[in-house]
Amino acid sequence: MTARTGKFLATVLLGLAVSTSSVAAEPVTPKLTDKLSQLLQKEMRAVQGGMASIHSAMVMGQHESVAENAQQIHDSFILQQELTEQDRKDLMSAVPKGFIKLDKEFHKLAASLAEAGRDKDTKKQQKLFNKMTGNCIQCHGKYVSDRFPGVKSSGD
Ligand code: HEC
Repeated sequence: MTARTGKFLATVLLGLAVSTSSVAAEPVTPKLTDKLSQLLQKEMRAVQGGMASIHSAMVMGQHESVAENAQQIHDSFILQQELTEQDRKDLMSAVPKGFIKLDKEFHKLAASLAEAGRDKDTKKQQKLFNKMTGNCIQCHGKYVSDRFPGVKSSGD
């Protein structure tokens, strides 16, 4: 292959990688075992409740409540819960790496938000809260498009 076609191919491949990243990936939900799906839904409802509590607490300057709720979201991390070895294998074969990465990132942000709560830093709380909301949208838009077809994730 000449250097020229090599360069051309690289450009095409790069273009593909960029364009597919903004398209909804195949939804992960049909691939989850019943147990994993139930665990995940339970975690999601807890996360949803936690985010609502954090929002109220944040705008009223109730820093302790921000910290507590964010810490709880962090601790609910499904990947760090006591999944059996088999569950873990099922999970890894059901979801792509990008999903795991997003989930990890999300829970890391929750830990930072708990810290911002303990630091009584409202501005930082707001920034992290918004980032976390971005993660909900990104993951749902990309990996849960079957259940949430209305969510449009704007790429990446
Ligand atoms: C890494 C991916 C990921 C992130 C990040 C994420 N979710 Fe989800 N969420 C899912 C998946 C997958 C489902 C569908 C689970 C199923 O139906 O099996 C879901 C479902 C839900 C549901 C429906 C639960 C039910 O009872 O069926 C709610 C509510 C929800 N998410 C809220 C949130 C909120 C709020 C955030 C952000 C603060 C968030 N999610 C972030 C992956 C994610």
